[in-house]
Amino acid sequence: MANVIVVGAQFGDEGKAKVTDLLARNADIVVRYQGGANAGHTVVANGETYKFHLIPSGIIYTGKICILGPGMVIDPKSFIAEIEALKERGLEDANLKISSAAHVTMPYHLAIDAAEEDSRGDQKIGTTKRGIGPTYADKCARSGIRMEDLLDREVLKAKLDWMVPRKNVLLERIYNLPPLNAEEILNEYYELGQKIKKYVTDTAALIFEAVGDRKNILFEGAQGTLLDLDHGTYPYVTSSSPAAGGACTGTGVGPTSVDRVIGVMKAYVTRVGEGPFPTELTDSFGQKIREVGAEVGTTTGRPRRCGWFDAVIGRYAVRINGLDCLAITKLDVLDGFEELQVCTHYRDRVTGETFTDMPTIGSRYKQMEPVYTTLKGWLKPTTDCKKFADLPEQAKAYLNFIAKELDIPIAIVSVGPNRDNTVVIEDPIHGPKRVLSKPTTAV
Ligand code: GDP
Ligand code: IMO
Ligand code: MG
Repeated sequence: MANVIVVGAQFGDEGKAKVTDLLARNADIVVRYQGGANAGHTVVANGETYKFHLIPSGIIYTGKICILGPGMVIDPKSFIAEIEALKERGLEDANLKISSAAHVTMPYHLAIDAAEEDSRGDQKIGTTKRGIGPTYADKCARSGIRMEDLLDREVLKAKLDWMVPRKNVLLERIYNLPPLNAEEILNEYYELGQKIKKYVTDTAALIFEAVGDRKNILFEGAQGTLLDLDHGTYPYVTSSSPAAGGACTGTGVGPTSVDRVIGVMKAYVTRVGEGPFPTELTDSFGQKIREVGAEVGTTTGRPRRCGWFDAVIGRYAVRINGLDCLAITKLDVLDGFEELQVCTHYRDRVTGETFTDMPTIGSRYKQMEPVYTTLKGWLKPTTDCKKFADLPEQAKAYLNFIAKELDIPIAIVSVGPNRDNTVVIEDPIHGPKRVLSKPTTAV
């Protein structure tokens, strides 16, 4: 194989885990590089459905090294609950590793995430309330607690004795909530650290060695490009770097060691939480996509907002991630539509200007209205298709249209949640390296 990043190329929930699972078969190491228990990654394999939040999807395979990288934030209680549940289902934790530098989500992060959200009113972000923003905020403020700190009672005590009174000022005076007790947190979290200790190591060193040994490393992105802290629809983003660049900073692997970047996009778009979504459908079409696609959040159970495929977002994701090829998922969800719309560009509803590439994402982005091209639906089931040639003509035309609009080859098409509901058009790993200035490569 090679060293490959699988990145969400829309607003999250694109089906990254299904694609990661397909590619993990030939990987030696599967590593998550950012985010935390806000992720909800579903894999359907061997007749079982697995939902992962912190643990890389590669854990399904025996013998793969699975790493929670230093760019992640880890809630130890969620981690232990998740690994215990997976072990009960027969999966092994022998090759599971956690970076000693990953940050720990503490009880005050969870409390503050919820309290901040509730206080924002109509400015709320719609977070998953998993403490993600506050944990990354403390990391950036250089007052976070890292996995290595959980293992040293003295260090943990010193950090908590300084931190907890400060968080209590916020909780009590701003949010009118009860204070937390530093000693109780120390006792509980030191104990949790002892349970997790066996997994904690210098994962950047381990990956560096693997790169030297020409092992195959798969980087599993969480969230999506438009939720990226720097490149997404700020402030309606998560607090980490889901875009492909995050795979380097979030693991300690240099960019020269990455061979390939695969972007995962649904054949339509969904979004959970607040924030602009130009192609959102609030009518019966949106309802139909939600129902057929079972578009309900894996982590929070919230209904996902649904809309037509957005080529402007697609082009942006190709650019920001330097994508080599695409995996298009959930094509089957569109099987029952007579007509499909694809947004090819935006029109600014205030100034009338048009944009084929993303306008600078800022307050103006919410003024963008989609301009659509209508394509014919195929009105035939696609789930049993195994090859591109098996797909209905209009489905091929739909995919070709997307590939042409985004100027990128589609390597994989997913037509159902199971491993075998997959059409491989070209080798996603060893296909030609994409040259960004080259003219369109249609499927
Ligand atoms: P992730 O967060 O990007 O890994 O995606 P999620 O797991 O949150 O959401 C994707 C959902 O769609 C999961 O329930 C998958 O089992 C399901 N899924 C993935 N690919 C397909 C597909 O091609 N067709 C259908 N119908 N479902 C799919
Ligand atoms: P996966 O990995 C979809 C969204 C939340 C909210 C925003 C900020 O399954 O694709 P946060 O709790 O991270 O501070 O919330 O980001 N969000 C996701 N949306 N899929 C996810 O993960 C998400 N993780 C966070 O809904 O809008
Ligand atoms: Mg998800």
